[in-house]
Amino acid sequence: MDKSRCSVKPGRKQQVFSSPEELARKLRAARYAVDPVKLEILYLASRMHRPVLVEGPPGCGKTELAYAVASAAGAVLERVQCYVGIGEEKLIGKFDEGLQRLFLKTEGNRGFAKWSEIRDRLHSFDFFAEGPLLRALRYQDRPCVLLVDEIDKVDYSIEALLLEILSAWQITVPMLGTIQACRKPFVVLTSNEERRLGDPLRRRCFYLRFEYPSIEAERDILALRTTECCPRRSAQIAGLAHALRAWNMEKPPSIAEMLDVAEALGILGVEEISHEQQDLWLPLLAKTDVDCRRLRLRAGFEMLVADSKHYRDQLLRAAAERSSAPELGP
Ligand SMILES: Nc1ncnc2c1ncn2[C@@H]1O[C@H](COP(=O)(O)OP(=O)(O)OP(=O)(O)O)[C@@H](O)[C@H]1O
Ligand SMILES: [Mg+2]
Repeated sequence: MDKSRCSVKPGRKQQVFSSPEELARKLRAARYAVDPVKLEILYLASRMHRPVLVEGPPGCGKTELAYAVASAAGAVLERVQCYVGIGEEKLIGKFDEGLQRLFLKTEGNRGFAKWSEIRDRLHSFDFFAEGPLLRALRYQDRPCVLLVDEIDKVDYSIEALLLEILSAWQITVPMLGTIQACRKPFVVLTSNEERRLGDPLRRRCFYLRFEYPSIEAERDILALRTTECCPRRSAQIAGLAHALRAWNMEKPPSIAEMLDVAEALGILGVEEISHEQQDLWLPLLAKTDVDCRRLRLRAGFEMLVADSKHYRDQLLRAAAERSSAPELGP
């Protein structure tokens, strides 16, 4: 019996993006900014069915990338949130013993000629509570993005389990059999590098390194992600992020923190960040006691705010020059 019940014909066209330009346009519509090099890698990964391993500091868009690709592809997103001690059952699923017992009690005597028929029926998908890894292989009519988030938290046995899925696109489940992917999901693995991932897993993936964005890129992300943030505000917030990250903080603020600042400015109806409001901004920007103390010392925050205004003015000047420059002919 074919337990996977997959009716997708081999070789059927499963490509979701027809060009890097289409991917770029759709990611932007999903309000996700990505530089041209990463864009090409993502496009190749989607065409070549390679998982993408994304490493980098917290709050820099690793998890959000999977959501943005899913939205761009009109795909279902299956998420595995990894933690220390996560087991196979949580990832793949398990037989629902209660349901099996109930079936035996109510239907066990009806219509089955042999015990082997009952056993096969009990070990079918009808009695299996599927986990995200298995579900990701079984979508037939829609593409799927499989997000394995924070894979650096799992131990080596789970990493080994992923090897079969990410290269053969199948899972072997005792009593259920080997389930082949109906269509290959687009896989995003994220890691905060709490432990080094093994080389067999790395070699199966395309590797993307995320870092804090440049000041211009951060301004663009702020503009994409916030509705109320005018160019002047976005430029100052991006400038402040740049200044803070150069300050050698214990926990530098990420894009996520800067988006919080943008939202807070909008809620308060404040035009710019000023050092007089340091007590208001520090809890949003400095997340350790050491960083808070250092920023309060010797007018630290005041200097950084002055720098942020300087960067803002530079960005606004450059934008004004670009818009007033004459268009070059072909
Ligand atoms: N390139 C980007 N384009 C648009 N928004 C972004 C981008 N990068 C980050 N963001 C914003 O930053 C927020 C935080 O990103 P995300 O949760 O993906 O970080 P992360 O790298 O997964 O962090 P952690 O390691 O803490 O889980 C997102 O919700 C999103 O709003
Ligand atoms: Mg994340």
